[in-house]
Amino acid sequence: MLGNFSYCNPTKLYFGEDSLQALNTELPKYGKNVVLIYGGGSIKKNGIYQDVMQILQENGKNVAEIAGVMPNPTLNKLYEGVEIARKHQADFLLAVGGGSVCDYAKAVSVSVNCEEDPWEKYYLRFEEPSCETLPVGCVLTMVGTGSEMNAGAVITNTETKMKIGHVFADEKIMPKFAVLNPRYTLTLPHYQMVAGIYDIFNHICEQYFSGEDDNTSDYISEGLMRSLLHASRIANQDPQNYEARSNIMWTATWALNTLVAKGKSTDWMVHMLGQAVGAYTNATHGMTLAAVSLPYYRHILPYGLKKFVRFAEAVWDVNPVGKTDEQVAQEGLDAMEAWMRELGLAMKLSELGATEEMLEGLADSTLIMKGGYKVLDRPEILEIFRESL
Ligand code: NZQ
Ligand code: ZN
Repeated sequence: MLGNFSYCNPTKLYFGEDSLQALNTELPKYGKNVVLIYGGGSIKKNGIYQDVMQILQENGKNVAEIAGVMPNPTLNKLYEGVEIARKHQADFLLAVGGGSVCDYAKAVSVSVNCEEDPWEKYYLRFEEPSCETLPVGCVLTMVGTGSEMNAGAVITNTETKMKIGHVFADEKIMPKFAVLNPRYTLTLPHYQMVAGIYDIFNHICEQYFSGEDDNTSDYISEGLMRSLLHASRIANQDPQNYEARSNIMWTATWALNTLVAKGKSTDWMVHMLGQAVGAYTNATHGMTLAAVSLPYYRHILPYGLKKFVRFAEAVWDVNPVGKTDEQVAQEGLDAMEAWMRELGLAMKLSELGATEEMLEGLADSTLIMKGGYKVLDRPEILEIFRESL
């Protein structure tokens, strides 16, 4: 049964090869002082920076820059960006990059006019902003996180080894608009492309593997997963295939723009395990999820057997005739494992730099979620990390 909810997603999307031109429609809505936020330089190599700069100049903007936002953006980098935005008296933040850059822009947005420490307020106490926030726009260059159409912002505190995501309840934290040009994603290294694909898949799983009810969201999720599997196989063989890459981009947005979570419980435990790994190793987000997923899902399978059977049949076309529910469910996960290996995902934490000595710390760093089929205790978390190593 669908629970009670309200739904509003105010992010305007511009999709396709000419979508950058939408900046000419959007930028005039905001003040003159723009802070352009980007990562380690990919946008300078592929020309997106130059194109964006030209449009900013043609629109008469006074531009400051926050460059070098790293994958898994850190708290220290957030402090630095907040200072730049304050000094520039920013009216608008334009993020050009992947999830890290988009997340970071949102974290700057909620911190610029906030006197309290953002880590304490947003990442330890999970409060909503009580100050004026800055509008954010996003030009997406890496597909996976859904950050372009959600209110999530993940920040890593390298000192305490905590990587924490805050999904703000206030929809004004969502980007005002996002430019989605699949062509921009064609320069991504294969490693990042497949990490993003797995991130998308896992976002859907996190919202699918929960609840016993009949729920429209689960049917939407199954459709998204099937589309992703199809497109991912094409893109894996032929990364320059625009049709596949455009479908992957669109699926990523719908996988985590709050839609498929509506009216049902959600899990997010794989992300909590993966984020702990990210805090310790700084590994690529999607790969941290890939490495812990199968031990986790095999562990919780008996508690959510019916859903795993449904997953096997509806997503992986497992034929149930003459098989027990357990066999069908296991075959579904086996098919998922085969697909993950086909893409070349990291299947072990040791591939990401995690070691036996880190296990206790990883368990300490893992937040425990309560919405899935089994609420894990610390020994179970340790066991899953050990199996993933
Ligand atoms: O920094 P540059 O030089 O731009 O290089 C980036 C970076 O090294 C590169 N890249 C991006 N676009 C490119 C490109 N290289 C060539 N061509 C392009 N077109 O890709 C690398 C990874 O970028 P990043 O932004 O870090 O990847 P992703 O989009 O996966 O974002 C990861 C961050 O998002 C958080 C993760 O935890 C992680 O911190 N997440 C945010 C979520 C949200 N807002 O809801 C949910 C997710 O579960 C996730 O936790
Ligand atoms: Zn993710």
